[in-house]
Parts: sequence; C-alpha cells; structure tokens
Amino acid sequence: MTSTALVAYGSTYGSTAELARTVGDGLRKTGLLVEVRSADVVRDLTPYSAVVLGGALYSGRWQRDARRFARRHRRALVRLPLWLFSSGPLDSSAAERDIPPPPSVRRLAHRLHARGHVTFGGSLDERADGWVARKIVASGKGGDFRDFEVVAAWAESVARELLSLTSRID
Ligand SMILES: Cc1cc2nc3c(=O)[nH]c(=O)nc-3n(C[C@H](O)[C@H](O)[C@H](O)COP(=O)(O)O)c2cc1C
Repeated sequence: MTSTALVAYGSTYGSTAELARTVGDGLRKTGLLVEVRSADVVRDLTPYSAVVLGGALYSGRWQRDARRFARRHRRALVRLPLWLFSSGPLDSSAAERDIPPPPSVRRLAHRLHARGHVTFGGSLDERADGWVARKIVASGKGGDFRDFEVVAAWAESVARELLSLTSRID
C-alpha cells in the first residue's frame, strides 16, 4: 500500500512551520511518504492515510489555521490515525515536563480521537510583527525554546506507531 502522511500546521510567525518540517523529516526517516503543508491550503484529505496536526498556541488556543483545519476536516480526521502537537511555551517548561494541552485542544483531541498530543517549546523573536509579540520580545521574554532533537524523536515514535498500525491492516 502506498500511503502518504500529512503534516499540517497553523503558524503565524513561522516557528511552528519549522517544527512541522522537522516532524515531516522524522516521519520520512522511517520510509513514509510525507507532505508538510500550512493548514490553510489543504482542501482535501483523501490522498492521506494519516495526519499530524500542529498549532502554535495563542492565548490558550491554537492558531486560527489549525483550528479551522480541525473543524473543516473533522469527518475525515476521525477516521484517520491522527496525532497533535502544540507549540508555545517561551521558557524551558516543555523540556522539563509533559505539558498537557489547553482545554480547547484537549476537547479537539477527544472529539477527533487523536492518538497522542505533545507540547513543544515555542519561539518568538524581533521579527514577530504583532503589538503583543513585540512587547513580549522587548520585555526580554522571547527566545527560542524549540528542541529539534526532541521533535525528531517524537516524530519517529509516531512513525513507528503508524507503521505498526498499517502492517496490522495490510
Ligand atoms: C500574543 C501571543 C500570545 C501567546 N500565547 C501563548 C499561550 O497562550 N501559550 C503558550 O504556550 N504560548 C503562547 N505564546 C507563544 C507562542 O505560542 C510561540 O511564540 C510560538 O512558537 C509561536 O508560533 P509561530 O511562530 O508558529 O506563530 C504566545 C505568543 C504571542 C505573541
């Protein structure tokens, strides 16, 4: 069976997009075909046999493109193997412990029967052009808290789970 996994992401300033590309690379390592796409450009999930959906956290909710993707594709998503990730904390907390999803993402995970969720550290720097973003960076609370090795390891664990699922189905 030829199958392609989709990694879709909602990212305002680009740091979650980079995490998604790292997830894509991690999945490819195990031989899977993978497409990585911004969540707002995906119209149809028919070509895909599994989905990883990631959203940057803004005020305790996923970035809009990720939220809309989850809503638009909910019927397809409940039937596909699905994993979620959030990116956000601008401190070392995500490296120190498992950070549960905020309630809105937890509800989504439940509704869509997601097989797993992880929170990765986020990133914010002076290129972010929003007023609040600029305030955060100006007050010294920005920085890059992403650990790409942790992201790659998570992606490989997802790939292993996915491969074991598909080998049971074949
Ligand atoms: C206005 C604003 C609100 C944010 N709210 C949260 C939040 O509620 N929880 C969190 O963990 N991170 C929060 N962050 C941090 C972002 O999630 C983090 O910078 C993320 O990496 C941005 O992703 P992006 O570059 O893909 O847009 C916030 C950042 C900004 C600028």
